[in-house]
Amino acid sequence: MLFQTVLISAWALQSLAYPAYEAAFWGGEPITFPPPLANAGSILIPDAAHPYIPPGPLDQRGPCPGLNTMANHGYLPRNGIVSSADIINGAQEAFNVDYNFSVALASFALLSRGNVLLDLVSLGLESPLVPPLPGNLDGIPGGLGKHGRFEGDVSMTRQDYALGDNIHFQPDMYDNLLTYVANYSDGNIVTEAVFEQYRYARFEDSYLRNPNLTFHSGRHGFGYGEAGFTLNFFPNAKEGNLTVPVMNSFFRNETFPEGWYRRATPFTFAGVITAAGQIEAPHPVPAGAKNSSGVYVTDPTSASGICGLYANLASQNVPAILLNTTGTLLQNVNTLIGGVYKIFEPFGCAMVLPTGPAGV
Ligand code: HEM
Ligand SMILES: *[C@@H]1O[C@H](CO)[C@@H](O)[C@H](O)[C@H]1NC(C)=O
Ligand SMILES: *[C@@H]1O[C@H](CO)[C@@H](O)[C@H](O)[C@H]1NC(C)=O
Ligand SMILES: *[C@@H]1O[C@H](CO)[C@@H](O)[C@H](O)[C@H]1NC(C)=O
Ligand SMILES: *[C@@H]1O[C@H](CO)[C@@H](O)[C@H](O)[C@H]1NC(C)=O
Ligand SMILES: *[C@@H]1O[C@H](CO)[C@@H](O)[C@H](O)[C@H]1NC(C)=O
Ligand SMILES: *[C@@H]1O[C@H](CO)[C@@H](O)[C@H](O)[C@H]1NC(C)=O
Ligand SMILES: *[C@@H]1O[C@H](CO)[C@@H](O)[C@H](O)[C@H]1NC(C)=O
Repeated sequence: MLFQTVLISAWALQSLAYPAYEAAFWGGEPITFPPPLANAGSILIPDAAHPYIPPGPLDQRGPCPGLNTMANHGYLPRNGIVSSADIINGAQEAFNVDYNFSVALASFALLSRGNVLLDLVSLGLESPLVPPLPGNLDGIPGGLGKHGRFEGDVSMTRQDYALGDNIHFQPDMYDNLLTYVANYSDGNIVTEAVFEQYRYARFEDSYLRNPNLTFHSGRHGFGYGEAGFTLNFFPNAKEGNLTVPVMNSFFRNETFPEGWYRRATPFTFAGVITAAGQIEAPHPVPAGAKNSSGVYVTDPTSASGICGLYANLASQNVPAILLNTTGTLLQNVNTLIGGVYKIFEPFGCAMVLPTGPAGV
């Protein structure tokens, strides 16, 4: 409580635009990643210690149905303000996300949208519990819902930022997805064929309607990856296939279905790359963005595969100013850069450093 009060008043100072508030005031501990969880098999989720409690009005929820569900069951802090260790432990426990993949996702979340000194990020938008870095180096941390670095266009159940609500579940979009389950499967089992069509249709829709469409390599990879997440994390391991009632529970209610067992083996980054590639294969879409004349310009890195994706994410979508720091802050920046690299090193990518703009 005291800790929270201190943060709130410190943030209030910042919002009054005091230029200099000092690192010493903020504390901040060196980040160390927790070790992998021992059990990586299929278990009943939630256990008795993790009941569903709907979020309160001040609890942060955002564009990720996986993280929202975890927070609604206390696999992440229920207020939606989470540390890298919270994400790493929670993702392994609730969904059996591979350890290195959990570390990399948590690291990118912190670097792009959190406060890396305090090791906190909001699942939704900005919060007084996640104040700016000393010197206001990157503005007020936006949270995972802030458009641009992590949240992006061509989502499956959220609108493009320029077109509407990019954060909350959109029932009409989801109902449209269900028509694909009817037309490309049996109306009940959600198959890869469904996402092969739906994901392409989502791109076509954005391409036609969004004059600000931004779909660079990182977001392009994540966009297809998130369809792979849906197919590989949401099924009840007791059923094998993903069914519509189970998918409804995650997307509509953000709760684990009754009697749900998590997958039996960790799902790795290599697994999601394979899944994303299969989903895109029938209708390839180049990574890129519209320029101010409204022309969709393909990224030079569009064809450069996983290392191009990595360069876009870890270089352009993380502010360069983070490297111009000292002490615990710089130490944490370097730890998290290493955390992201964990999943790209096995693909032979050279490490990249942040080069992105601040305050965006
Ligand atoms: C472990 C760390 C994770 C982080 C930091 C994270 C973060 C995010 C963010 C920021 C988005 C928004 C992207 C966008 O559509 O613009 C997103 C989307 C999504 N996430 Fe997560 N996520 C994580 C884990 C998971 C897990 C474990 C699952 C599934 C169990 C999951 C399922 C999804 C899905 C399906 C979407 C797409 C929603 C849509 O397109 O409408 N995520 N995630
Ligand atoms: C869309 O792009 C235009 C021109 O670059 C810009 O002025 C406008 O703010 C953008 N709108 C949104 C919602 O991003
Ligand atoms: C599904 O099939 C119906 C009937 O043929 C058609 O009207 C509708 O446009 C199709 N929807 C999709 C998403 O393919
Ligand atoms: C999963 O769905 C596929 C395709 O609809 C079907 O062939 C298979 O038998 C199903 N498996 C289970 C365990 O229901
Ligand atoms: C979602 O929650 C509502 C209200 O509690 C409930 O009636 C419905 O059965 C739930 N649906 C799913 C798919 O969990
Ligand atoms: C947008 O891209 C097209 C095609 O490359 C080019 O002809 C046009 O000049 C570009 N517009 C701007 C404002 O850069
Ligand atoms: C980092 O510091 C160097 C040396 O002072 C400076 O040249 C550079 O512009 C700074 N980078 C950023 C992103 O501010
Ligand atoms: C995880 O990453 C480390 C390097 O950080 C590597 O040695 C290890 O083999 C990776 N594990 C898996 C399962 O990919």
